[in-house]
Amino acid sequence: MKPQAVKGTHDILPAQVPAWRQLEQRVRQTLERAGAGEIRPPVFEHTETFIKTAGESSDLVVQKEMYTFTDRGERSLTLRPEFTPGFLRAYIQHGMHTWPSPVRLWGIGPVFRAENVQRGRYRQFHQVNYEVLGSDSALIDAETIALLYDALSATGLRNLRVRLGSVGDPDDRSAYNDYLREQLSPVADKLTETSQERLRLNPMRLLDAKDPGDRALIEKLRRPLEFLGSAAANHFAEVQDWLRAWDIPFDIDDSLVRGLDYYRRTAFEVHHLGIGAQSALSGGGRYDGLVESLGGPPTAGIGWAFGVERVLDALEEEGQQASDAERPLVFLVALDTEAVAEVAGLSRELRREVAVGYTLTSRKTARGLKDADRSGARFAALRGERERAAGTFEVKNLADGTQHTVAEDDLRRWLLDWENS
Ligand code: HAM
Repeated sequence: MKPQAVKGTHDILPAQVPAWRQLEQRVRQTLERAGAGEIRPPVFEHTETFIKTAGESSDLVVQKEMYTFTDRGERSLTLRPEFTPGFLRAYIQHGMHTWPSPVRLWGIGPVFRAENVQRGRYRQFHQVNYEVLGSDSALIDAETIALLYDALSATGLRNLRVRLGSVGDPDDRSAYNDYLREQLSPVADKLTETSQERLRLNPMRLLDAKDPGDRALIEKLRRPLEFLGSAAANHFAEVQDWLRAWDIPFDIDDSLVRGLDYYRRTAFEVHHLGIGAQSALSGGGRYDGLVESLGGPPTAGIGWAFGVERVLDALEEEGQQASDAERPLVFLVALDTEAVAEVAGLSRELRREVAVGYTLTSRKTARGLKDADRSGARFAALRGERERAAGTFEVKNLADGTQHTVAEDDLRRWLLDWENS
């Protein structure tokens, strides 16, 4: 049997890399113009960093989605299932609360979750993650959501829709959770096992239930937005005012809850109106108090992450293609053995300025031209006994078939002139 990558993981092959690179470049530019600094935290952290932040009713913990292992020093370590805890740990460790506030950080890289694999749901996937630490203002919430919208738009995506909700302050949440317990405990035996567990640990997560029986029971109930206290309600209204002023298209979702427990007040997702079941490209929200729970100073925070694979899927669905990988400008063809050494040496020189391919053995003209064509090169430059005697290359434009005799000393200039014309 051929060796296989682990289920839920993928190779990103050379033909796919240009799309990744283009996305990263556009997103980096958008975020860095907005004052975000890139951070590259380690891929694994102490397990407790993730447990303390995710919360005991999160899918990461309940569904055992973390890749956790014990190292030789008997430490429990975990491959990051999200970036947020590592960013916050770094914020505390490096005393970033003394930096000019708010601190805006972004990062990109692989994250790991032991999930059920399906289209758009993998075990190693990639996130672009963004966090703002040190401000609790509604303006920052709106700026953060707008920046997500702008970063996704910069990738070329259209058909984006923001779903906006609020999970309230802790008191609002516990009032809503009490309400849900009161309503659902008498019918708990009619709920699926997962929902019963959510009812025990964090009833609000029930709003995420997919089972039709569960949904029927839940849909009759009041929504979390109805339980917002006045502080959270005013904050929520202000966020909406800003977004309207900036023409960010959004829908209010009165029962938006997220798979992680740390959110307070503003929560949001961005969906794509094309990719179907896994339409959530991105999610995030405010998490004041989370830095404190990791042992740092009281700090307000808000952020988001988007799934790179899902965004690339959505771009493909929209028929958008990234520019190709760099192809050779010229492919040097050796027509005899002596020419092999000549073209190999010349390639090294020309590669300081342009992409170059060459034949590793001597070729007949027709075969050499075929090799050049397969390489995707614009020009083939042939070198054999005749050219050596004349001190030239025979250059063929593979796109239009025209031929030119170019002096060997002029080849570099000739190619560069063509490229810059
Ligand atoms: P999340 O909603 O768990 O949030 O993940 C964010 C995005 O990652 C999702 O919207 C989705 O596009 C992508 N994603 C999640 N799981 C998978 C998977 N198994 N396969 C492929 N893509 C996936 C967070 O991770 C939070 N840390 C976001 C955040 C940052 N909140 C505040 N700051």
